[in-house]
Amino acid sequence: MNHQDIVRAVERLKAGGLVAFPTETVYGLGADARSEAAVARVFAAKGRPSNNPLIVHVPGLLMAEQLGVLDDRARALTRAFWPGPLSIVVPRAAGSGLAGGVTGGVRGGGATVALRSPDHPVALALLFSFGGPLVGPSANKSGGVSPTLAAHVREAFDEREVLTLDGGACAAGIESTVVWLGEAGGRARVLRPGVIGAAALGAVLGEEVDGPGLPGGAGVGVGVGGVLLSPGLLASHYAPRARCVVVEDLAGVDDLVGMEELAGAGGLVVVLSHSLVAEDELARLDLEGVELIEMPHEAWAYAGALYARLREADARGPLAIVVHRPPSAGETAEETAVWQAIMDRLARASAAR
Ligand code: TXA
Ligand code: MG
Repeated sequence: MNHQDIVRAVERLKAGGLVAFPTETVYGLGADARSEAAVARVFAAKGRPSNNPLIVHVPGLLMAEQLGVLDDRARALTRAFWPGPLSIVVPRAAGSGLAGGVTGGVRGGGATVALRSPDHPVALALLFSFGGPLVGPSANKSGGVSPTLAAHVREAFDEREVLTLDGGACAAGIESTVVWLGEAGGRARVLRPGVIGAAALGAVLGEEVDGPGLPGGAGVGVGVGGVLLSPGLLASHYAPRARCVVVEDLAGVDDLVGMEELAGAGGLVVVLSHSLVAEDELARLDLEGVELIEMPHEAWAYAGALYARLREADARGPLAIVVHRPPSAGETAEETAVWQAIMDRLARASAAR
């Protein structure tokens, strides 16, 4: 990665092409947010449903204000968290500023736009050099596991189709928090949890912010026997190829492997566990065809490793990936937010397809 790579990437973007770039969360699939054709290319490359809007990446508040209507609350959030892993959904600006603002395709046809300034030197260099807003959905095929390494992007897209800027591993590892500031006078709501939690947003706004999760604030439910309850309520996303199941404790692996389907096939089951005693516990169960991938014990490190470990598990070609449910709360509100964002991704990875 050097200056010449940025110059080539900007040329590609100006020609309406696609450039994958690193951010602090995951790699994004960049294209000119003002170009209908470039944005259409992103949807086609990802196989993404056209009603799912894209996040627009900006270098900072100045460009954000040309694309969206930011009130005092929105500005306070940008001051506190930008550049950083927070996408703010605001009403779109009416046609002013940058050549008519972002295209309708970016917004999924809606009246709002999600804006974010990424905290990564390569992403910011690209944005400043390009001088315009870039869409940046995660650089994976729709529904798949998000990329945290340039190699992950290159597995999904041909280099002729997508020019990839290699900025090493993404630190945060899971996608940005998406917050919607609500109707006028209404409450802000987290639409997608990330490492910045509702409590942290609320502390800046001086008001309660609704968390994500199911209506009524029930959050993600884990049911009887530790197997995820009603996964059909959740759209499948962030999903590996192999079937993925979340269990409350490792004894649950016994039941799953005992299930006819897995036992008869004589295949492999990969277990992802954060437990320090996972190896001993699995040894005690004495099961055939079970391999352990150890996950970090600490929340931020777990988030950073999650997608790469899921891909590693998938690459072994297992019949199932069993994830030992991580803690639902930490010692601080910040840590709890990270565990909840992780559980959101695990719930989607294990949702029915
Ligand atoms: O961390 C991230 O946000 C990464 C990196 C590359 O920046 N990008 C990312 O983009 O995750 P994507 O497209 O994979 O996810 C965008 C999410 C989707 O859940 C989408 O529905 C939501 O943001 N979104 C985008 N625009 C929206 C809008 N106007 N209103 C509500 N939700 C919106
Ligand atoms: Mg995505």
